[in-house]
Amino acid sequence: MSGNKRDLLAIDDFRSELAEIIEWAIRFKNDDGFAEDFKPLDGMSIGSIYEKPSTRTRVSFEVGVRKLGGQPLTLLSNDIQLGKSESIADTAAVLSRYLDGITYRCFGHETVEDLAKHSTVPVINALSDMHHPCQAAADLMTITEHSDSVKGHIAWVGDGNNVLHDLMLAGVSLGHDVKYATPKGYEPNSDVLKRAIEIAAGSGASITGTNDPVEAVTGAGVIYTDVFVSMGEEGMEGKFADFDGFQVNEDLVSHAHPDYLFMHCLPAHRGEEVTDGVVDSANSVVFDQAENRMWAQMSLLTMMCNRAAWETFLELS
Ligand code: CP
Ligand code: NVA
Repeated sequence: MSGNKRDLLAIDDFRSELAEIIEWAIRFKNDDGFAEDFKPLDGMSIGSIYEKPSTRTRVSFEVGVRKLGGQPLTLLSNDIQLGKSESIADTAAVLSRYLDGITYRCFGHETVEDLAKHSTVPVINALSDMHHPCQAAADLMTITEHSDSVKGHIAWVGDGNNVLHDLMLAGVSLGHDVKYATPKGYEPNSDVLKRAIEIAAGSGASITGTNDPVEAVTGAGVIYTDVFVSMGEEGMEGKFADFDGFQVNEDLVSHAHPDYLFMHCLPAHRGEEVTDGVVDSANSVVFDQAENRMWAQMSLLTMMCNRAAWETFLELS
């Protein structure tokens, strides 16, 4: 890989190309011929390191890499030397000699930054405590697929966490207004919020924060929530009391546009942040989001590992 490799650590790293990344993914998903023989990762190996559990990210990367002609390797943190007898820098240098790309799910965001700094191949953040860019790419792809019916802003109800950060960055990049409701003390990270406000100023979108879920969802075209206690916050179940009134239930969604989309990155803790009635309703697109993880990541991987092929597909499809 040449010295001009690019990493995806937060979704705004690819802000200017986000609309095209999504367009590519939608065309690839719906292609009924060309895509089958298109193998831009032929001869390439993509390694994925996990320090936390995963269903969607792990399976969608493994299957997506294979569909593109590449070889996926899943590296569970218990099985490798990283964090035990080997530093991130040495691990990054070694893996760069074997692999053509690395995805990394970690705890502190600084560890994926460190891995990217010491790798000579592209690194994709597969979730850190601060960002979840692959989720945001799939989420904006899902919203784009429903652009005919989405009338209104993106509303977030819940914790000001990693998923909100990239949803907000991606949403305003594509011109969507975002209103988030969190309990007091659980607002999004101030640096990420500042970046999102700067992007919004350029795209003409707006960002509004409140502690009132009804205010956030009134007139919304999308309602998004996530677990109240994220991975890495084990032992912080005391948080639940602070989220009283933040459940996305039938009463709350009655304030949204009738054709609103219900979104959740999953896994959902049914009965906590969302009711069965909402997550299983006709408005819910949670399983489309899960599927779109694969298509969006295929677009990202192709762009990052074989840019010429990525551009060719856009031209020919
Ligand atoms: N949404 C998401 O990242 O799911 P997994 O934790 O199952 O990968
Ligand atoms: N906020 C959640 C997202 C899981 C996909 C977490 O970090 O655990």
